[in-house]
Amino acid sequence: MSERTDLPPPTRWAQAGERNVGYGRKFAALVAEGADVDGEARLADVLVRRGAAILDVGSGMGRVAAALSARGHHVIAVEPDADLAAQSRTTYPDLPVVEADAFALTPDLLAAAGRPAAYDLVVCVGNVLVLLAEDTERAVLTRLAALLAPGGRILAGFHVAGGGPDFARHYPPTEFVADAEACGLRVDLHAGSYELHPPGDEYAVWVLSAS
Ligand SMILES: C[S@@+](CC[C@H](N)C(=O)[O-])C[C@H]1O[C@@H](n2cnc3c(N)ncnc32)[C@H](O)[C@@H]1O
Repeated sequence: MSERTDLPPPTRWAQAGERNVGYGRKFAALVAEGADVDGEARLADVLVRRGAAILDVGSGMGRVAAALSARGHHVIAVEPDADLAAQSRTTYPDLPVVEADAFALTPDLLAAAGRPAAYDLVVCVGNVLVLLAEDTERAVLTRLAALLAPGGRILAGFHVAGGGPDFARHYPPTEFVADAEACGLRVDLHAGSYELHPPGDEYAVWVLSAS
């Protein structure tokens, strides 16, 4: 039997299998106890006008997208993991979730799902970019760049070393910048946290726009 070639390659997240279930449980518990899980959303919120169109790619259980919806933005969540998409729909019933992989995420796919094809802000935080399928970083960054409205930006964030899941890749900032630039993006901001600490060795936050 021949292998299907139309499917996206398996992500590091998917390949981790049972090792990835802690994320959904952890945030379910934090949300239930009323903890602050909105840090990424607060930074995203200051990057856009009120009522902006925002796409959260790799939205997981929906915490960032939901926090941005609560701030009055028009947010679409994109999540390929069926269990996380289901958790998102249960926890945040009003948040639209498109079940798709960033590798295959096109304006046409979103339009076919009845969603906008271009966004003021594409959010890709919480280690999504270090959990993609191997060697798909440039393909995914190209996809994200193609979804930006004029003047639109990308907010990305991931652990540079340690701190993230042990199945995440190591993505040095120099390599990330080279990948972003090869995909028609430029770095507008590099910080070390969502509270805009200076860049460091632990975590990297990036604001990117079309070059
Ligand atoms: C640690 S979770 C973070 C989820 C969410 N962004 C958050 O911060 O709560 C990592 C997420 O990356 C997603 N991911 C990994 N590769 C992806 C891809 N190619 N396309 C879309 N999402 C992807 C996983 O499905 C998972 O939801």
